[in-house]
Order: sequence, then structure tokens, then C-alpha cells
Amino acid sequence: MSRRSLARASALFRLPVRGRVADSADVLIRRETPADAATVREVTSRAFARPDRPVPVETVLLDELRGDPAWLPALSLVAVDAGGVVVGHVVATRAHVGPAPALGLGPLSVHPDHQRRGVGSALMHAALGAADALDEPLVVLLGDPAYYGRFGFVPAAEHGIEPPVADWRPYFQVRTLSAYDPGVRGAFAYAEPFARV
Ligand SMILES: CC(C)(COP(=O)(O)OP(=O)(O)OC[C@H]1O[C@@H](n2cnc3c(N)ncnc32)[C@H](O)[C@@H]1OP(=O)(O)O)[C@@H](O)C(=O)NCCC(=O)NCCS
Repeated sequence: MSRRSLARASALFRLPVRGRVADSADVLIRRETPADAATVREVTSRAFARPDRPVPVETVLLDELRGDPAWLPALSLVAVDAGGVVVGHVVATRAHVGPAPALGLGPLSVHPDHQRRGVGSALMHAALGAADALDEPLVVLLGDPAYYGRFGFVPAAEHGIEPPVADWRPYFQVRTLSAYDPGVRGAFAYAEPFARV
């Protein structure tokens, strides 16, 4: 392959982040397997570690979601490095807008040693692509709009979707997918374990 076509190919297949080539090409994204569960838990704990909490809330949430009917194995994805080590994880679980099915995204975790290299972005793009391919209509999350806006998330209120807690509004965002129906509006309900943590 010529240098030029090699450059063109890498521009096609690598994820650009703010105009530069991201290191995310160094990870592969795939579905989680049962053998990954312990490492996924460890990555989540490291990503959300706080000095005041031996076990982060997000790790407890992950544990609870795993045992819940809302867990969707096809939407629990890991990022693995060149050595096959899990360095990041994302999961989307069954949620609802009124009676209509929807997805709640999170936790999204990247091991601290691997952050800011595009791994989180690669996981997010993969999760959204998988959800779209599965004909899911929309994905909701709670997070910083400055980060999630780049993945097409907008304030959920723009689509008439209301958070379970009114104070969450500034951080409560939705990404609509191909199967989105604008008639689906109303109260958003996460999977039940979210209410327990
Ligand atoms: C948030 C997280 C998943 C992002 O993964 P990542 O691999 O570091 O992200 P990427 O490399 O794809 O993107 C990095 C960019 O996102 C921005 N970013 C990362 N986390 C952010 C956050 N919480 N808020 C705002 N921006 C954020 C960075 O500024 C960076 O932008 P830059 O490249 O212009 O400097 C990761 O930092 C993480 O696990 N954090 C701890 C857990 C967490 O907060 N999870 C999200 C809530 S569920």
C-alpha cells in the first residue's frame, strides 16, 4: 500500500478527536464476556474512585444492574488494549419514557491510566451504533453537556423528556436514534437499580 493510501486509510478508520488522530485506534471495542466481569468492576471502581468511599456508588450500581432484568448483554461493551486487557467499559440498560422502551446509559468508565486517549469516545460511538442497529429509539444519560454534546446528546427537555428528579435537568440529555418517534415524550424512568443507589 502506498504512503498516500495508507494515510487515507488511517484517516478513514481512526477516530479523529478535535482535529488530531486519537490513540483510540489502539483499543478494540467488543461485547463483554463473562470472563470480563471482574475486570470491568475493577475499571469502574478505579474510574470513579473517591478517597471517602471504598466502593464507589457507580460500582454498586453496576453490580445491581448486572442482576436486573434491565441488563442488556448486547449493550455491555468493553475496550481492550493491544494486550487484550480491559481498559474501559460502557453499558446501556432498559429504561422507559412513559410506557415506551428507551435506554439509560452508564456507567461509562475508562481506567485512569488510559483516560484522555479517545477510549471513552470509542466506547460511546460503539454503544450508540449498537443501540441504533438494535432499533432502540433513544439513549438518555446524566452528565456534563460539554463532554456528551460531541456525541449528539442534547438537553432531554428539547424532546419533551423529563428526568426523574427536576434538579437533574441541566445534565439530563438524550441522543435520538433512527427509530426515534417524536411522539414519545414524558417522564423518563431508569432501570430500577438506579433508584436504589
Ligand atoms: C469520562 C470518561 C469516560 C471519558 O473517557 P476518556 O477516554 O478519558 O475520554 P476521551 O479521551 O474520549 O475524551 C477526552 C475528552 O473528554 C473530555 N472529558 C473527559 N471527561 C469529561 C467530563 N467528565 N466532563 C467534561 N469533559 C470530559 C476531556 O476534556 C477530553 O477533551 P480534550 O481531548 O479536548 O481534552 C473517563 O474520563 C472516565 O472514566 N472518567 C471517570 C468516570 C466518569 O466520570 N464517567 C462518566 C460519567 S458516567
